[in-house]
Amino acid sequence: MKLPYSRQTIGEDDIREVIRTLKSPFITQGPKIAEFEKALARFCRAKYAVVFSSGTAALHSAYAAAGIGEGDEVIMPALTFAATANAALYLGATPVFVDIDKSTANMDMRDAKKKITKHTKAIVPVDYAGLPADLTVCRALAKKHKLILIEDGAQSLGAIYKGKPVGTQADMTMFSFHPVKTITTGEGGAVVTNSKKFYDYLLMYRTHGMTKDPRKLTDTTKAAWHQEMHMLGNNYRMTDIQAALGVSQMKKIRTFLAKRHAAARRYFSLLKHIEGLTLPPRSSLASSAWHLFVVRVDKTVRDMVFETLRAKGIGVQVHYLPVYTHPYYKSLGYRGTQCPTTEEFSASALSIPLFPNITYREQSYVATELEKALRKARF
Ligand SMILES: Cc1ncc(COP(=O)(O)O)c(C=O)c1O
Repeated sequence: MKLPYSRQTIGEDDIREVIRTLKSPFITQGPKIAEFEKALARFCRAKYAVVFSSGTAALHSAYAAAGIGEGDEVIMPALTFAATANAALYLGATPVFVDIDKSTANMDMRDAKKKITKHTKAIVPVDYAGLPADLTVCRALAKKHKLILIEDGAQSLGAIYKGKPVGTQADMTMFSFHPVKTITTGEGGAVVTNSKKFYDYLLMYRTHGMTKDPRKLTDTTKAAWHQEMHMLGNNYRMTDIQAALGVSQMKKIRTFLAKRHAAARRYFSLLKHIEGLTLPPRSSLASSAWHLFVVRVDKTVRDMVFETLRAKGIGVQVHYLPVYTHPYYKSLGYRGTQCPTTEEFSASALSIPLFPNITYREQSYVATELEKALRKARF
């Protein structure tokens, strides 16, 4: 059996939609962008959504909209994909890494509080594996210290926090549409927000800092061709081909989420009796999008279990190395043992295959092989 840790779910309906756009007059900057943004905003119960060429582009743009720049500090968990931190570096800011809370694998808010200084500009909780961070506490902290709250929801589109969809709590929430995420556009990302100010900024930043909006032009005497550059932006536009796929995927998002939930429940029952295995955290405040199913094993045997499962065709993964332990971050002066709980978690974590169409037979195979691998590693 050959099983990836995750894979996209693409149907004939998705393919038809993409082909329709390929045959249409617009393959970029056409009507599908607005349609996708409207569907996302409605789903997240947010006023505005802006889509981007990737989740990283969306994060970079959100940080820029927050006014993050030279000399600013941005607080984030060390247990995340490097993009969360890289987007701060692009703007000359300093990522400040916070430890995780062992019970959720999300940012430890007590540690976050300790790391706030007069240079802190923003706080970025990451919804690890699809489980929302403690957003109420995060919001209170942001309010008290006048910080912008940017949620890295790359993994949590469709998760629920205190009865509300992710995307309603932070000043801006970013999503990723990489193939392993809740929905995919190949590559792609979005920011949702209720702030008109951030929305306007994000739209301009996405397309070189240029605008044609007559209300924003400094010179209104020119004909309709006239557009002005008001800031240094990027080309972070998503194509209509991608957005057509996004619109089609959004129609099925509730089915994708229900299937992920069912698969997670099946793993809990298949794995609960296995000795030496810690199952993923769950929270009474939130319902996960079940992006990843991360189990933990003793760190002395983790790599052996990893290799044994890979040899059996099971696409296990490790999410993540603490960001500051990457050689590039070390070269910037970051040192180890800043976040002991993150380091402990990272050394023992193992993501096992989870995606909407995984079958019961495939999950049983993973459970059986995982149990065997653990037994083999112990003797
Ligand atoms: C937590 C987190 N942040 C940011 C990103 C970046 O998103 P993208 O790959 O769409 O650029 C990812 C993607 O894997 C992620 O998991």
